[in-house]
Amino acid sequence: MQKNNVDTEIMVYLTRKERFNAAHKLWVEEWSEEKNKALFGKCSNKNWHGHNYDLYITVKGTPDPTTGFIMNVKDLSKIIKEFVIDKLDHSNLNLDVEFIPKGTQPTTENLVILIWQQIAPHIQKHNAILHCVKLYETENIYAEYFGE
Ligand code: NI
Repeated sequence: MQKNNVDTEIMVYLTRKERFNAAHKLWVEEWSEEKNKALFGKCSNKNWHGHNYDLYITVKGTPDPTTGFIMNVKDLSKIIKEFVIDKLDHSNLNLDVEFIPKGTQPTTENLVILIWQQIAPHIQKHNAILHCVKLYETENIYAEYFGE
């Protein structure tokens, strides 16, 4: 293992960005239309609406002395594509996605937790550690999850 100048293990953070587009609706069945609209605004639109999501997956580790990699970014990209993007892209997040339990509000906050659970075990197999799942729902708002 490489050491840094305070004699602890060197830790480097590597981020891969991916995109997907999906539809959703934020709605509480027991509430009136007015109450749903008041809380969820445009995200409560009855006939759905879409977002262009930007997803940032950060892994951490010590660069391998031979390859200089924490993990092969091609493998990272493949994991994100297979277990997240292929399942979410052009989907309806309320109805279509098997890893989003029925009745789960498809908010950015809930999505980062579910995406973490989808990819963490696969990243571990490549000797890297998942550090952060960051998801932008619009350019002005994002949620982050660190596995806590
Ligand atoms: Ni929305």
